Amino acid sequence: MLRRSFLSTAAALALPLRGQGSTTQIDVMVNEPIATIAPEIYGHFVEHLGAVVYDGIWVGESSKIANVRGVRKALLDALRAIKPAVIRWPGGCFADQYDWRDGTGPHAQRPTRTNFWVDSREWPKNARRDGPETFDPNHFGTVEFVRFCRAAGAEPYLAANLRSLPAQDFWRWVEYCNAPAGSTTLARLREADGERAPLKVRYWGVGNESWGCGGNFSADEYAVEFRRFTAWLPSYGVDLALIGSGPNGDSREWTRKFFEKAGRSGLGKLWGWGAHHYSWNASGGRTRDWFDGKGDAVQFDEEQYYEILSQANSMDSIIRSQWGVMGEADPQHRVKLAIDEWGSWYKPGTEPFPEALIGQQNTMRDAVLAALSFDIFHRHAEKVAMTNIAQLVNCLQSLFFAHEDKFALTPTYHVFEMYSPHQGGQALRTEAVEPSISYKRNGQPALLPRLSSSASLKGRTLTLTLSNLHMKQAAEVTIRLHGAQPSTVEAVTLAAEDPRAHNTFAQPNAVQPAKSAASVKGELLAVICPPASVSRLTVALR
Ligand code: AHR
Repeated sequence: MLRRSFLSTAAALALPLRGQGSTTQIDVMVNEPIATIAPEIYGHFVEHLGAVVYDGIWVGESSKIANVRGVRKALLDALRAIKPAVIRWPGGCFADQYDWRDGTGPHAQRPTRTNFWVDSREWPKNARRDGPETFDPNHFGTVEFVRFCRAAGAEPYLAANLRSLPAQDFWRWVEYCNAPAGSTTLARLREADGERAPLKVRYWGVGNESWGCGGNFSADEYAVEFRRFTAWLPSYGVDLALIGSGPNGDSREWTRKFFEKAGRSGLGKLWGWGAHHYSWNASGGRTRDWFDGKGDAVQFDEEQYYEILSQANSMDSIIRSQWGVMGEADPQHRVKLAIDEWGSWYKPGTEPFPEALIGQQNTMRDAVLAALSFDIFHRHAEKVAMTNIAQLVNCLQSLFFAHEDKFALTPTYHVFEMYSPHQGGQALRTEAVEPSISYKRNGQPALLPRLSSSASLKGRTLTLTLSNLHMKQAAEVTIRLHGAQPSTVEAVTLAAEDPRAHNTFAQPNAVQPAKSAASVKGELLAVICPPASVSRLTVALR
């Protein structure tokens, strides 16, 4: 859409073109579907890390805190409401140190083990160091996790230990989960744990970050391990979906070498390729050290605000680049991307409570980051089969804070709730004519798109989500539908006076979505997006 034609669109809608704001047009091609948005794009990640499992999710059946078979009820209720399609567990790095047998049998007889994260340098100084975050009592094992998934309405995704257990233990874990009732010793162990019928676990990760904490393998070495772990794996009638440990960010080398070395037998077993991408302030003039380079979750300046969003925005190029490399060995693209860890990662200091290792506050900036990421996943709906934000509760870009009897939703939770109508919809091609945001990265000019958007269609209902990435200026947005006529529109917006706004246990509703104004005229829609905001338009088509 050319600027002249956009101005006539704006005039048709009588938009108030303010000096401070910018004007933007989005074209939605209703007759140009990309692919179905896999509900699994709205997946989660739960690791035995800090207070994610103990306190966050698992309070125990005898707890005074309202629970459903030991799982915190408030979290379960809120999670169910956003339709979590899949939940990954037990790690992360923890997975490659975990023996699944420790989480079986009567709770009182389960062993207590030292947690992988015991020596993390991110532990707050005043954290208690003798609790289940450090010495894991294994009360939350496979059966407890699968029940949690069932109660939440999600499929379980188990990550197997490739670094410190033999391949045989992986097959045995599959047997414990999926073998027919009463058929084997492990099926009977499952029954003794309270689950006679097979758990029918479909998603299995074969190692985690095998280039790093998962064994420091080279891609060639990992390909050999992958083949060993997955050869002749019994399926027990379940359509197993195996996920390989993909690259750190956009390592084309890792992907190319694995795909070459895995060969037909290895690739034939692969369902998803698990890329990880975190956003942190480690570029520009700041130190490049992974630990020291991170910024604060709440006290950020303009450069840090835009840099985090810019890093999140690079998910788009990572997907394109990885897809291209995967296509060299898999031209039919049978294997899809599973971005099974993503989100923001800040320096320590804003944990909701000390035991929440790698816990961090979650502001409107993170809400925009989540929305921007989902818009990218939708635009690549034919490539991305699953994603899992890190992590569900009390850790990294979490949806919840939960401690003792306290519970709060983060702005990121609200984005999941606002975006949930996209699940299972047909992603539509959109085009935006927009001014870029220009900012300074280490004193040098840098650009970021002004707006992020995506659209999907279910029956005659079109869902359009859009975020204004500008930290200070509102955006007046006109939307033109091609191939359909809108009849009514409803809008909801997540915004705050300050992009640093966030929810706490004391003020759990400081950031929450509210109905907002949108108008419809002919094939045009109009909405004003406040600075650093996320909006959803629900459009009924004629
Ligand atoms: O999510 C925290 C950690 O980040 C995970 O354990 C690991 O896979 C990644 O490096």
